[in-house]
Amino acid sequence: MKLIDYGVRDDERKYIEEWSKENDIEVKIVQELLTPETVELANGFDGIVAYQQLPYDPVVFDKMNEYGIHVISLRNVGVDNVPFDALRKNDIKLTNVPSYSPEAIAEYSVTGLMALLRNLKHMIRKVDNHDFEWAPDIGRELNQLTVGVAGTGRIGRAAIKIYEGFGAKVIAFDKYRNDELDKRGMYVDTLDELLKQSDVVTLHLPSLGKGNTVINAKTIAEMKDDAIVVNTGRGDLINTQDLYDAIGNGKLYGAVMDVYENEVGIFNTDVSDQELEDKLLEKLIKSPRIILTPHIAFYTTKAVKNMATISLNSMIDELKTGTSSNEIDIEK
Ligand code: COI
Repeated sequence: MKLIDYGVRDDERKYIEEWSKENDIEVKIVQELLTPETVELANGFDGIVAYQQLPYDPVVFDKMNEYGIHVISLRNVGVDNVPFDALRKNDIKLTNVPSYSPEAIAEYSVTGLMALLRNLKHMIRKVDNHDFEWAPDIGRELNQLTVGVAGTGRIGRAAIKIYEGFGAKVIAFDKYRNDELDKRGMYVDTLDELLKQSDVVTLHLPSLGKGNTVINAKTIAEMKDDAIVVNTGRGDLINTQDLYDAIGNGKLYGAVMDVYENEVGIFNTDVSDQELEDKLLEKLIKSPRIILTPHIAFYTTKAVKNMATISLNSMIDELKTGTSSNEIDIEK
């Protein structure tokens, strides 16, 4: 059995090499992303493992079929950049890593929120300029706030545990309720209700498809004054211009954005020698009330190791048994 792993970063390499040795299975590691130009590197291999933010081109799956490869295993959770119709057409199975470390993302959401509540971005900028004054950066305490968790999957539930530890009041919304949280009476009936009651709205939802935003001018109008939005899910859950405007005009207090609707091609690249073409991104960076980071909530040693190894294990399950517990239902 021979596998090929695409888009491998330096920080992932050692985990893949260790797995390969332990399992005595050849894994060719390539840095290139999986594109119509690079897919031919997979000719002769039994399965493709990949990670990229760039959309997967349907042509890649036609080529895979031509080479007799019928499984692609992703090292991440989100599958919003995969064209399912191309998979179906070419009889290709897809797996992801649904749970590499929910705690990594949950912890980061709280980290970003705490930084915002204590105005750390502004304070650090001031201190860098030898301005040691306290005002106007008086903080707010999490234990006095109502945190609304949108999405109570693994990440949302991990976040709830942490928020409760801080003494915040937690409410939640999900189309599919978790029994335990339901018994504890944590759920509100609608997303609107969650937005209305929360001082902090934290998004732990997958992408709802282009144009289907949760946070936009209309929903922001329903939110509490001085509320905060935390997003470590997907950038397209938010109309960013609307959010920026609402922070600028004082309706909202601020936001933690680890994801951004136009992040692909920019996040995880170093363009420090260039001017940003994206003027909205430039404004977000400048705002003292927006904690913007380049999609790093997942980026911990535990998560990266799990992404590298679980994706390979799923691939082996698929190739040996024809299925895997991490197989995605592509008929939906
Ligand atoms: C995912 O797993 O889908 C993420 O969003 C994290 C990614 C940047 C590796």
